[in-house]
Amino acid sequence: MRKGFETIGGQWVGVLVLLGWMLAGPALAEPVKLDPRHWGHEAGEKCVSCHSKASSGLASQWRESAHHAAGVNCMDCHQAERSDPDSMVHEGQIIATIVSPKDCGRCHQKEYEEQQGSVHAEAFALIEARLPALADHVGGPIMRAASCDQCHGSRVGVQGDGRLDPATWPNSGIGRINPDGSKGSCSACHGRHRFSKAQAREPEACVRCHSGPDSPDKEIFEASKHGMVYAAHRHEMNLDAPEWVAGRDYTAAPTCVTCHMGAAGKLPSTHDVGMRNAWSLNSPVSNRQFLVVFEDGAKMELPEGAEIPKRGAELTRLDGTVGQVKTLAAPDRRRQAMSMVCLECHAKSFTESFMSQFDAVVELFNDKFGRPARDVMAGLYAAELLTPTPFDEPIEFTYWELWHDEGARARHGASMMSPNHAWWEGMYVVGRNFYARFLPEARAIAGERADELVDAVIGAVESHQWLNDPGQSSPILGFARDTHEEAE
Ligand code: HEC
Ligand code: HEC
Ligand code: HEC
Ligand code: HEC
Ligand code: HEC
Ligand code: HEC
Ligand code: HEC
Ligand code: HEC
Repeated sequence: MRKGFETIGGQWVGVLVLLGWMLAGPALAEPVKLDPRHWGHEAGEKCVSCHSKASSGLASQWRESAHHAAGVNCMDCHQAERSDPDSMVHEGQIIATIVSPKDCGRCHQKEYEEQQGSVHAEAFALIEARLPALADHVGGPIMRAASCDQCHGSRVGVQGDGRLDPATWPNSGIGRINPDGSKGSCSACHGRHRFSKAQAREPEACVRCHSGPDSPDKEIFEASKHGMVYAAHRHEMNLDAPEWVAGRDYTAAPTCVTCHMGAAGKLPSTHDVGMRNAWSLNSPVSNRQFLVVFEDGAKMELPEGAEIPKRGAELTRLDGTVGQVKTLAAPDRRRQAMSMVCLECHAKSFTESFMSQFDAVVELFNDKFGRPARDVMAGLYAAELLTPTPFDEPIEFTYWELWHDEGARARHGASMMSPNHAWWEGMYVVGRNFYARFLPEARAIAGERADELVDAVIGAVESHQWLNDPGQSSPILGFARDTHEEAE
C-alpha cells in the first residue's frame, strides 16, 4: 500500500516537472511586463469618448472590465503598425479591427504561448482540407462562414484598404488564422469587451461550440451528476475568485474548465486544453496520444504505435517545418494529470475504476466497430466499388456518422459520466447503424465479393460471433415464443 502511494507520488512529481517544461515556451519579440508604464495610450481617451456614442454598448462593456480598472484602453489593444496587412487609418490613428492572440500576448505571454500550442489553435488547420467535401459539396460554400468558421475559425482575408473580407469574418473561431499569422481568438471564451475570467470558467464558455451530434459535451455535462450538482450549487462555485483552485477555492462541482484547464491541488491551470487527454476521441479509431513538445514551443500529437522520437531528435511537423524534440508526454502522464483533478474530490480507487470503465468503452468501439468499419470501407475503395469522391454514395454518410456522430457521442458520454450518451444516444445507435445499415449497404455494394470484402472482416472479430448463432431468442422484442410461455 505504502509503496503504491510512493510510486504514484513520484509519478506526480514527474507530471509537475513535465507541465513546467511545457509552460516554458518561446520568447516573444517584445514582451511587455504587466506594468502600467506599458499602457494608457494617449489616443485612447478620444476613442472612448466618440465610441460612447458610436456602438456605445462595447464601450460600456469595456468600462466594466479589469482592463478599464487597470487603465488599459482601446488603443493599447487596437494599435497597429502601418505594415500590418489589416491596418487602417481611423480618426488619425493606425488601428486594426482584429486584436489577435499575438496582440494580447504582448501583455499575457504565458496564456498566449499555451493557447498557441494547444489543439484549439489547430482547429482550422485540421479541417481545411476537408472543407471542400463537407461544407462545399454537401452544403454550399456560403455555409462555411455561418457554421464551420464560427467554431473552427477561418483563414481571415483582408481587402485592399485593411478592411476584413466579409466572406471570412466576423467569427471568433477557436483556430482562426489571423492576418498576422497567429492562430485562434482569445474572445472565443473571454467575451468582449469584458474579457472576464469568471465568465470563461462557466460551462457556457465552451458549449457554444461543444454541443450537437459530434461533440455533445453540453448535453453530456448537463446529464451527468457533475451537471446536476453544478446546477444546484452554482452559487457556491466562487467563480469570481482571483485564483480558482479546485479543492481549495471551490469543491461543489467541477465544470469543463476544472477538468480541462483549471488548477487543482498542485496541478497548475493551463490554456492548453488538450494536455490532460490521453485519447483522441473524435477520430474513426481512437488512439492513445503522445504529446511532442519542440524546442521552439510548438507541439504535436503522435498516436501510440507510431515511431516515437527521442529527445533532441528532428521531426517534420504538420506544416512541413522541421522541429527539434524537447520533451515527450506519454498518454499515461496525460491521464495522471487528469486524475489529479478528480482526486481533489474523489478517492483514488473510485477514480481509477472509473477510468478503467471509460477506457474499456473506447477499446470496445475501436475493436468492434471502428477498425472493422474502416477496413470494410478501405476494401471497397481499393476494389473501386466506390468512387474516390466523398459523400456521393449513401454508405459514405453511414460511415461518417458511425464514427463522427454516434461513435463520438458514445466515447464522450463514457468519458464524462453521462450513461444516456454512452448507451442510448451513443453505442446503441452505433450498433443499430452498424448492423442494420452499414453492413447491408456494404454487402450490396460488394455484391459477389461480399464474403471476402465484408463478412470475412466481420467474421474475424470475436464480438460479432453472436451473429452466427441465430437460434437464440430472448424476451427483449416482446414477441419471442419463450416469453409467452414463461409468462404462463
Ligand atoms: C469621432 C468618432 C470616432 C473616434 C474618435 C473613433 N472611432 Fe472608431 N469608429 C467610429 C465609427 C462611427 C465607426 C463605425 C463606422 C466605420 O466602420 O467606419 C468606428 C469603427 C471602429 C472600428 C471597426 C472598424 C472596422 O471597419 O472594422 C474599430 C476597431 C474602431 N472604430 C476603433 C477605434 C479606436 C481604437 C479608436 C481610437 C483611436 C477609435 N475607434 C476612434 C467612430 C470613432
Ligand atoms: C483587451 C483588448 C481590447 C480592448 C481594451 C478593446 N478592444 Fe475592441 N476588440 C478587441 C478584440 C479581441 C476584438 C475582436 C476582433 C476579432 O477578433 O474579430 C475587438 C473588436 C472591436 C470592434 C469590432 C467588433 C464589433 O463588435 O463591432 C470594435 C468596433 C472595437 N473593438 C472597438 C473598441 C473600442 C472603441 C475600445 C475602447 C472602448 C476597445 N475596442 C477596446 C480587443 C480589445
Ligand atoms: C458548433 C460548432 C461546430 C461547427 C458548426 C462545426 N464543428 Fe467541426 N467540430 C467541432 C468540435 C467541438 C469538434 C470536436 C472536438 C473534439 O471533441 O475533439 C469538431 C470536430 C470536427 C472534425 C473532426 C476532427 C478530427 O480531428 O478528425 C471535423 C473533420 C470537423 N469538425 C469538420 C467540420 C466542418 C467541415 C464543419 C462545417 C461544415 C464543422 N466541422 C462545423 C465544432 C464544430
Ligand atoms: C478555451 C477558452 C479560453 C480561451 C480560448 C482563452 N482563455 Fe483565457 N482563460 C480561460 C479560463 C477558463 C480562465 C480562468 C482559468 C482559471 O482561473 O482557472 C482564463 C483566464 C485568463 C486570464 C487570467 C489569468 C490569471 O491568472 O488571472 C488571462 C490573462 C487570460 N485568460 C488571457 C487569455 C488570452 C490572452 C487568450 C488568448 C491568447 C485567452 N485567454 C484565451 C479560458 C480561455
Ligand atoms: C497592454 C497590456 C494588455 C493587453 C494588450 C491585454 N491585456 Fe488583458 N489584462 C491587462 C491587465 C493590466 C489586466 C489586469 C490584471 C490584474 O487585474 O491583475 C488584464 C486582465 C485580463 C484578464 C483577467 C480579467 C479578470 O476577470 O480578472 C483577462 C481574461 C485578459 N486580460 C484577457 C486579455 C485578452 C483576451 C487580450 C487581447 C484581446 C488582452 N487581455 C490584452 C493587460 C493587457
Ligand atoms: C469557438 C469554439 C470553441 C470554444 C468556445 C471552445 N472550444 Fe474546445 N474545441 C473546439 C474545436 C473546433 C475543437 C476541435 C479542435 C481540434 O481537434 O483541433 C475543440 C477541441 C477541444 C478539446 C479536445 C482536445 C483534444 O485533446 O483533442 C477539449 C478538451 C476542449 N476543446 C475543451 C474546451 C473547453 C474546456 C472550452 C471552454 C473553456 C472550450 N473547449 C471552448 C471549439 C471550441
Ligand atoms: C469531471 C471532469 C470533466 C468535466 C466536468 C468535463 N470533462 Fe471533458 N473530458 C473529461 C475526460 C476524463 C475526458 C477523456 C480524456 C481522455 O482522453 O483520456 C474528456 C474528454 C473531452 C473531450 C474529447 C477530447 C478528445 O480527445 O477528442 C472534449 C472535447 C471535452 N472533454 C470537452 C468538455 C466540455 C466542453 C465540457 C463541459 C461542457 C467537459 N469536457 C466537461 C473530463 C471532464
Ligand atoms: C470539484 C469536485 C469534483 C471534481 C474535481 C470531480 N468530481 Fe466527480 N463528482 C463530484 C460530486 C460532488 C459528485 C456527486 C456526488 C454523488 O455521487 O452523489 C460527483 C460524481 C461523480 C460520478 C458519479 C458517481 C455516482 O455515484 O453516480 C463520477 C463517475 C465522477 N464524479 C467521476 C469523476 C472523475 C473521473 C473526475 C475527474 C476527471 C471527477 N469526478 C472530478 C465532484 C467532483
